[in-house]
Amino acid sequence: MDQLTNSNEGYHVFMPLSGKRIILGVTGGIACFKAAEYARNLSKEGASVQPLLTENACRFVTEHTFSALTGHRTRTQAFDPSATHEIPHIKLAQKADLLMVLPATADIIAKFAHGIADNLLTTLFLSFKRPVLIFPSMNPDMYNHPATQTNLEILKARGNIIVEPESGTVVCGARGKGKLAGWEKVLYHVKKALWPKPLKDRKILITAGPTREPLDPVRFISNRSSGKMGYKLAEAASLRGADVNLVSGPVALKDPMGTKVKRVETAKEMAQAVFSLAEQMDIVIMAAAVADYSPARFSRQKIKKSDKDIDIELTRTTDILMKLGEKKTDRVILVGFCAESQDLVQNAFAKLRKKNLDLIIANDITQPGAGFDSDTNRVLLIDQEENVEELPLMDKAEVAERILDKIQEIIALREY
Ligand code: CTP
Repeated sequence: MDQLTNSNEGYHVFMPLSGKRIILGVTGGIACFKAAEYARNLSKEGASVQPLLTENACRFVTEHTFSALTGHRTRTQAFDPSATHEIPHIKLAQKADLLMVLPATADIIAKFAHGIADNLLTTLFLSFKRPVLIFPSMNPDMYNHPATQTNLEILKARGNIIVEPESGTVVCGARGKGKLAGWEKVLYHVKKALWPKPLKDRKILITAGPTREPLDPVRFISNRSSGKMGYKLAEAASLRGADVNLVSGPVALKDPMGTKVKRVETAKEMAQAVFSLAEQMDIVIMAAAVADYSPARFSRQKIKKSDKDIDIELTRTTDILMKLGEKKTDRVILVGFCAESQDLVQNAFAKLRKKNLDLIIANDITQPGAGFDSDTNRVLLIDQEENVEELPLMDKAEVAERILDKIQEIIALREY
């Protein structure tokens, strides 16, 4: 077996937007205050954020706030007195990977749709050749007005990405659609606009979380799996363009964006859901901690205590991954996980062979920060050629990216 390829011990800080240059156009709506927080969040994710405030935005928030939060001098003027020979909107447009406008008022949407170029943001928009993300936020009546909706349709038809506002009570007290998108949705769309799509047209099935094996109406046997690893994988695969189905056991997580989610409880239900989808899939990743045993009998009534000890008889569940491995064709990539407390590489490799997997993700559950119910993990990626890649302790979101990189590598070799 190969030597371990990486032995970095320290925690690896994950900054998914590292190296990306974003122009953040802020227009004059009350949600400007949220734009300040999002500007900070984008910088924390590693992006270089160039704020650009319209005159009306400066009535709600100050340019100093954005300069301090992003570390870049906020631009407000088309005619910058400090500029030399360079034309500000052309120079900014050439340097950035993405233009996002947040919040986008009805006024800026109308100006963009009709090519009006009367300030720095509108002139920059006309000269910008990379993805444009528009986040409308306004009073629901203004948002629903045919003029605004028609303008949004015009912008959409020209390839601009419109991220719909959320429904709820807006600041003026009105109810309806018009609230600025939440941070998670914003970040998802920023990544989606910037990411390449190497898994486009691939169908992926991912499982996540624990299963619950019921004893009676109120009790069950389960495990500590939080589902975080599978959910991060699902979102990361969707951002790479895959068509993602997630089969999830009971977890306290929101559905990952861009995925179809089927929620199940028991190992039996998980097996049924997986087997009904598996045949259409190109890639199956079993990240769920499926129960190996289930109570032999389910009591319809709550089991009453007595003074005696009781035994619970358990029966084996179906090993879903093993069954998938038995039927696997060369077209499919099958990935499993294993949690070990000793002889990690040997046990993981034996499982890879036994279950006919293309890749196994092994983690040593005795290591701090690794495995169940944690935001981080420390894993080994082991493939059929016995290559062992040891990843340092890292955020599960980054582990997900590295697993998908490895899967793409396997696909590339197979299709070569
Ligand atoms: N798995 C499965 N169906 C089961 C049990 C597990 O598909 N009934 C999958 C898991 O989703 C995971 C892998 O099999 O991808 C784990 O393999 P397993 O042999 O159960 O290893 P461990 O969970 O590490 O447990 P043990 O060492 O006790 O066998």
